[in-house]
Amino acid sequence: MTRIRHPLPDADWPSRDAARAGRWFQPIRLNQITARTRTWVPAMVPWRATEDGLVSDDVLDWYGRFAAGKPGVLVVEATGIRDVPSGPLLRIGHPRFLPGLQRLVARVRDASEGETRLFIQIIDFLAVRRRPEPAKFFGRFLQITDRHRAACGSEDEVSCRARLGAMSDDELRAALTEREYRDLAFGYREEVRDTHLPHIAELPRVLPELFADAAERARAAGFDGVELHFAHAYTMAGFLSRRNDRQDGYGGTRERRLRLPLEVLARCRAAVGSDFCLGLRLLGDEVIHGGSRIDDAVYYATELARAGADFVSVSKGGKFEDAKQPAIGSAVYPYTGPSGLECMPTVFSDAEGPFGRNVHLAAAIRRGIHAVGLATPVVTSGGICTFAQAESILARGDADLVGAARQTLADPDWFRKVELGRGAEVRRCIFTNYCEGLDQKHKQVTCQLWDRAFEPEFAGPRSADGKRRLIAPPWDPDADESVGSGRTAP
Ligand SMILES: Cc1cc2nc3c(=O)[nH]c(=O)nc-3n(C[C@H](O)[C@H](O)[C@H](O)COP(=O)(O)O)c2cc1C
Ligand code: SF4
Repeated sequence: MTRIRHPLPDADWPSRDAARAGRWFQPIRLNQITARTRTWVPAMVPWRATEDGLVSDDVLDWYGRFAAGKPGVLVVEATGIRDVPSGPLLRIGHPRFLPGLQRLVARVRDASEGETRLFIQIIDFLAVRRRPEPAKFFGRFLQITDRHRAACGSEDEVSCRARLGAMSDDELRAALTEREYRDLAFGYREEVRDTHLPHIAELPRVLPELFADAAERARAAGFDGVELHFAHAYTMAGFLSRRNDRQDGYGGTRERRLRLPLEVLARCRAAVGSDFCLGLRLLGDEVIHGGSRIDDAVYYATELARAGADFVSVSKGGKFEDAKQPAIGSAVYPYTGPSGLECMPTVFSDAEGPFGRNVHLAAAIRRGIHAVGLATPVVTSGGICTFAQAESILARGDADLVGAARQTLADPDWFRKVELGRGAEVRRCIFTNYCEGLDQKHKQVTCQLWDRAFEPEFAGPRSADGKRRLIAPPWDPDADESVGSGRTAP
């Protein structure tokens, strides 16, 4: 594919009156709640929870900063539903997480003066291990089978391991199964089709309850809604994938692939009640070989809407299957391959470019939902960074809410600035994914446009190495209006 560096789209910011009359700044009802505007901040993991998955002061500062920009809906990062150690990823799988989550809700309420509706994305994920040292893989991890013995011409396990360790890449591809080779080259990674593993076989029995407990806890903490994470590289998206060939009634046909997501939704609904906003995020296209496409996604979204989902947020790609090979000692990261680029498109793109690249998927899903007589709101995101883009998406009826993740990270106040007719002051995202590079390394996520802005007297929180500020500089709406970047990137 020829890569082109695309310029940022012209912003042509509206006046205050034009912005306020625009569709993006009109309210929308989601179950019993009303979002003041149709602006949406999709989930972004910032790597700021404690090692035990608790809400830290840095988590409070991060979401408080987004809330100060008063988006209509702010979605808290993918939050783990199990009570198992997961490093500094936020968790919700036990009552001990409640007090921190309650503080988070209170912080967002305060910072947005009650104007932002706060949702939390809840997630289950399967084990992914780091790419092993070959010596360890052949010495310990690999289970020696008859296939290996035959390839080595040796019955003795110790000498078989030694011989495998000395083989060339071509010889190894023949001696190992495809899966064993992948474990060696990329690191061990579980999939939903590994039903020979008891804990994978039992996922359909345990996940509805785990999701439901988490959703109930989210409601108890005071969140306005829950987003079930059925997208990207994680467990529930694995069930929806066309590659899911489980033989236990939860894989194979489209209907069976959707069975567990429907059961999770139903169990969550029973737990949170009919008056609580419960929606989900799914993939409009997995963008991997043999993966689900838009026709699958339209079917899934329509059935989930029929089953009572209150919104459908549409993403794209972000899979392990086509991710780049990690270095030895690192774990595979699902946003490094072609599907990852579709999830977080950069200015280095094909002729179509990154801006609003995934909107057509949301549009097809919305048409499918409307075709069965429903009006479940659909959220789109992916390379959206101007008022004009949002307005044309809404005017065409391609989506009901328009999300911006990286543009909001670059400038958490940008919705307010646009709404106040001060778009010229927006600090515009340059879409080169410095932030995503930090996420990949599990480093605290910041934006390159502001993380070294220490002057004049910065005393706020810094990254673990002290080199980067952790939250965007404040914006004073009463300050000089002439400062800003206008149509060009800083
Ligand atoms: C640092 C970072 C972390 C992200 N974490 C999540 C996440 O937890 N859950 C999720 O569904 N998407 C996650 N995403 C994807 C975004 O929600 C969004 O779909 C993507 O960035 C494309 O939108 P944008 O072009 O507006 O940034 C993340 C993106 C970034 C940049
Ligand atoms: S680091 Fe780059 S891609 Fe990420 S939000 Fe900032 S400008 Fe945008």
